[in-house]
Amino acid sequence: MSLLRRIEDPKKSVRYEPAAPAPPAEPPRLPPAPREGTGRDLSQVSQELKARVQAKLIAEMDPKMDLSDTAQVRRTIEELFNAILDQENVVLVRGDRQRLFEQIAADILGYGPIEPLLADETVSEIMVNGPKQVYIERGGRIEKTPIVFQDDQHVMRIIDRIISPLGRRCDESQPMVDARLPDGSRVNAIIPPLCLNGPTITIRKFARRPLMVDDLIRLGTLTQETADFLQACVRARLNIIVSGGTGSGKTTLLNVLSSFIPPEERIITIEDAAELQLRQEHVITLEARPANIEGKGRVTIRDLVVNALRMRPDRIVIGECRSAEALDMLQAMNTGHDGSLTTLHSNSPRDTLARLETMVLMAGMDLPLRAIREQIASAIDLIVHQERMRDGSRRVVNITEVVGMEGEVIVTQDLFAFEQTGYDEGRVQGELRPTGIRPRFTPRLEAANIFLPSTLFGYERSLFR
Ligand SMILES: Nc1ncnc2c1ncn2[C@@H]1O[C@H](COP(=O)(O)OP(=O)(O)O)[C@@H](O)[C@H]1O
Ligand SMILES: [Mg+2]
Repeated sequence: MSLLRRIEDPKKSVRYEPAAPAPPAEPPRLPPAPREGTGRDLSQVSQELKARVQAKLIAEMDPKMDLSDTAQVRRTIEELFNAILDQENVVLVRGDRQRLFEQIAADILGYGPIEPLLADETVSEIMVNGPKQVYIERGGRIEKTPIVFQDDQHVMRIIDRIISPLGRRCDESQPMVDARLPDGSRVNAIIPPLCLNGPTITIRKFARRPLMVDDLIRLGTLTQETADFLQACVRARLNIIVSGGTGSGKTTLLNVLSSFIPPEERIITIEDAAELQLRQEHVITLEARPANIEGKGRVTIRDLVVNALRMRPDRIVIGECRSAEALDMLQAMNTGHDGSLTTLHSNSPRDTLARLETMVLMAGMDLPLRAIREQIASAIDLIVHQERMRDGSRRVVNITEVVGMEGEVIVTQDLFAFEQTGYDEGRVQGELRPTGIRPRFTPRLEAANIFLPSTLFGYERSLFR
């Protein structure tokens, strides 16, 4: 893809009209602006200057230039940029000149105004709602940024920049796309007429350093005791589902639980888009694939689960269970492939079971409900339910054992539950506490040579209730 095509709207060819030389007595000045960042709102004058310089720069660059040699391209841009400013007789103070250069370089080489957000490790999510509104999530909280794009076309160019290396496009015929940045961040773009705000981009940034168990304890997501408990459950090969709403931290917790799998085991991970980052050496990573433009070549999570069973797995970790694969997963769990882990979107531990039921029905095997419930009850040992609280923190709110069937219903019991004690200074106060119930699967832990103190479950407390 040529440079021109990449950063300019292909429908509008770039033409440079030489500007009348400005009288040297009155050099145009950019208004003073904060130094850091490259995506600040430029004044109207400087927007025009940027557009003009950028158009001229693109026109002069070799369209066949290899954009992957970033350092070289950057040097070329810098030379051209300086030459153009000289030709145009534009005098800028050093800070403004640098800022203008960074913005132009970011549009050509990177992702334009959101480039600094992508580089900022404290930003976990970027939301571009049309050209004039950019939000981020940082430390669990959503904030509006002062960043703006010039117009819809500018946002469209950045979308194109993101997806064109993947051989994809986003236009009226394909107004929604999912993509991934080279660093693994997940991107969704949706454009008018489907989205009335203008072209909208949502980026879930890939954490270079994923949150580990100690981070989760520090962040108050779980306690040291519950972390120890979950580690014991993983080591003892319990089948565990992490459930919760969107963005509640399911994948992150799944990654942490997977880190408890002993290094000598062969782990197969199955995901829609590879997000898990396991540290163990013996890991096979499988990724599902959407259909191509002709509607062919789709490989589902379900296909991969079936295939994984032929790959001599010690553990199967499914990124997210969404539909028919639930049946194959349960069957695997019930036929010797225990110790499997997955996540599932739900509102509560009970809802997790209800959704699992629906997913098995989606597999179209026409099984009686009771049989499905029996499969579920015997396969799933533990549900860890997580929530994104209203202060933005993520917390495990239930650790629930799936005990078995009683008549037609699946019986569960909470082993730990979050008790909220208050809401102070915008923070949710409370703790994940044991309920005083000892899990029925304790013998399985003991068989794996894991002996947990009964105080962990608040056992003493329960004696005196
Ligand atoms: N325990 C946590 N505390 C704070 N932030 C978290 C926690 N778990 C995840 N996050 C952040 O929340 C976002 C969503 O996490 P993710 O695990 O992908 O959620 P889900 O899989 O439920 O959609 C990510 O940006 C992640 O870094
Ligand atoms: Mg997830």
